[in-house]
Amino acid sequence: MSEHFDVYGGARLVGEVGVVGAKNSVLKLMAAALLAEGTTTIRNCPQILDVPLMADVLRSVGCEVDTEGDVARITTPAELSHHADTAAMGKLRASVCVLGPLVGRLKKAVVALPGGDAIGSRPLDMHQNGLRKLGATSAIEHGCVVAEADRLHGAQIWLDFPSVGATENILMAAVLAEGTTVIDNAAREPEIIDLCVMLNEMGAHIEGAGTSTLTVEGVETLHPTEHHVIGDRIVGATWAFAAAMTQGDVTVTGVNPHHLDLVLEKLRLAGAEITTFDDKGFRVEMLGRPRSVDFVTLPYPGFATDLQPFAVALSAVSEGTSMITENVYEARFRFIEEMIRLGADARTDGHHAVVRGVDKLSSAPVWASDIRAGAGLVLAGLCAEGVTQVWDVFHIDRGYPDFLANLSGLGARVDRVDTDPDRVAGDEAV
Ligand code: UD1
Repeated sequence: MSEHFDVYGGARLVGEVGVVGAKNSVLKLMAAALLAEGTTTIRNCPQILDVPLMADVLRSVGCEVDTEGDVARITTPAELSHHADTAAMGKLRASVCVLGPLVGRLKKAVVALPGGDAIGSRPLDMHQNGLRKLGATSAIEHGCVVAEADRLHGAQIWLDFPSVGATENILMAAVLAEGTTVIDNAAREPEIIDLCVMLNEMGAHIEGAGTSTLTVEGVETLHPTEHHVIGDRIVGATWAFAAAMTQGDVTVTGVNPHHLDLVLEKLRLAGAEITTFDDKGFRVEMLGRPRSVDFVTLPYPGFATDLQPFAVALSAVSEGTSMITENVYEARFRFIEEMIRLGADARTDGHHAVVRGVDKLSSAPVWASDIRAGAGLVLAGLCAEGVTQVWDVFHIDRGYPDFLANLSGLGARVDRVDTDPDRVAGDEAV
């Protein structure tokens, strides 16, 4: 069976929606559990497909993983395998985050190259260079990253770009290295802070979380901990854009609005009334048609590349013309081809897109190419005349817990439909 969503156009989203733990945090926190023998408990886990996939990766190196509701318990044995190569590795990008902890703990790792979203080239050179600076060898052999060291020592590491994954892998190796490591031009994402908080709870000594310079004093061993995952700012922002696009009124809880300062400012410029509730949530009220605003994606605290599809979708229904610049993942503009099927007036030139807002989008069959593009197409479908079919929705399931229930709670109608694979939309087009 193949599945798609039928998205009924014309909804105005109104109400409250709760957001749980961040996908891009929990997967790294699960990997961090490899650093300490014993049982680590992670709370506020989102119930998304990527969590069991990551659990499979951890099992492949010898951990026991139990997930019950929003709690994951990971029991790491004294003897771990250094070889992480399972079918799950090919399905999610974050699986590469076991590299740093395995090198830190075992001084050896063989980790299959990760899969994940098709959003552009995703090399691992900065991960590998960082590990080399710490004293490990690192090479790609037979589809795996192979890294090995006699001992790890502290080092000064400058990243060419504040890569989230490289910062995380280097951090998770450096916490068990001898001496002091300084990572400069480190990523500053809230999920990096969450990881540093958990590592420090486990006995690591990391300073500078949330700044571009992380200083790590290596320790001999770490111990398990209990940790509560931060709320998913990307999911929270999805609902903020949904409110703005559908001229709705949505209150989002479970997310720190300061993780979305720039996003909420953009929506304010687009005409929304924004109210924030300390570090607990926010409300987006959009009365009337949004006005066009420009967006430029950059590492945090810049506008997240993960939100670029929503920026395009909002611009497609706004009054005026927007320029959207993608600086992180070049292939993310593939999403625009699908938006054009829905009647968007958009064109790209290199890493810029120009989107002229139209009065109405019009339903069509469209295909999700990654998690956020999939969610963006659903939001666009809510603003299109007719019923939009969104295909390849397994992407959306990887990142959004309770997506359809949340949409329905806000007054939208989106149905999951099982279809005979011989009769998928678009078959008639040759
Ligand atoms: C993470 C997020 C992803 C988000 C991205 C940027 C997870 C699981 N995924 O991905 O949702 O879109 O951050 O915010 O957390 N690069 C190199 N060499 C490297 C590493 C990265 O050239 O060794 C480049 C990448 O090609 C990309 C840029 O650096 O252009 C950013 O990548 P990075 O921050 O590492 O993203 P991920 O950690 O893969």
